[in-house]
Amino acid sequence: MKPTFATAPGKVILFGEHAVVYGRPAIAVPVTQVRALARVEPAARGAGLTFVAVNLERRYALAEARRDDPLAEIVRRVLVHLKRTRAPDAVVTLDSSIPIAGGMGSGAACSTAIARALSAYLNRGRPLDDDTINDLVYQVEKLHHGTPSGIDNTVIAYNRLVYFKRGELIQTFNVPAPFQLAVADTGIRSPTKIAVGDVRKAWEAEPARYERLFDSIGTLAHDARLALEEGAVDKLGWLMHTNHVLLRQIGVSCPELDALAEAAEAAGSAGAKLSGGGRGGNLIALVNAANVDLVKEALLRAGAKSVMVTMVGEGERG
Ligand code: PMV
Repeated sequence: MKPTFATAPGKVILFGEHAVVYGRPAIAVPVTQVRALARVEPAARGAGLTFVAVNLERRYALAEARRDDPLAEIVRRVLVHLKRTRAPDAVVTLDSSIPIAGGMGSGAACSTAIARALSAYLNRGRPLDDDTINDLVYQVEKLHHGTPSGIDNTVIAYNRLVYFKRGELIQTFNVPAPFQLAVADTGIRSPTKIAVGDVRKAWEAEPARYERLFDSIGTLAHDARLALEEGAVDKLGWLMHTNHVLLRQIGVSCPELDALAEAAEAAGSAGAKLSGGGRGGNLIALVNAANVDLVKEALLRAGAKSVMVTMVGEGERG
């Protein structure tokens, strides 16, 4: 069989994280500067399937993987879907530049890349379609994140900007006026499952307060969609700033993220917010040609471990 490979992008959530778990809308975009890359190549007859996880510097056999190993989980699901009773004799190599547990969808991107490369390997170069990949990746996300909304696998499997509401058809839209975001990494790895679990406990303790906060976040995501569709980038900064304030109120920010948000805005960003599960991971700040260098410098001075600048709206499929 011929070697195959596939890649999947990272993502950032522009608006609506956490509230999206409770049925409110959210907006997410792929970030193609960071990627997961999976490669499948033949191994000796009888060798079984072996993983090489480059970032973790690990090599292990599928047959010896722990039951909850995420790479093994996606492989098993692809095999079941393709009605294969045994794994091929192959090496599956995974290499990713997406920070792990950094709110950029690393888990969903790794699963997506593996599902595409492996299904293409077993199917004469033809990978499974996006809908099926999305569904299989969501099944794995559920094992590791408890109650995921499904936004990560959706934005990554379809590789397009999405307006996502749980249980509804995926909506996408065009962004006529592209804009730049600085994505600053706190360097703090914070598993999404823990933040999502803590929000659930807080919501159970104070349902009315949390429902109000989720409603406010959902309204921001709705208003942001209108602003993006109109090309009214000037309205986005305030919406992002307000979304961050609400995320602080639901308890998923941390001093490091707040310091980065403050520093970005003081250096000229029209608005900044945490992105993803929070408590660490990444902060996104709206920037433009006039302030991008100043904001980048300010973020690094305020403790960011790295800052990447990405463009939203260019080449979106509508
Ligand atoms: O931390 P990330 O990139 O996995 O984003 C999680 C987004 C949440 O809304 C917090 C959880 C979810 O399942 O939607």
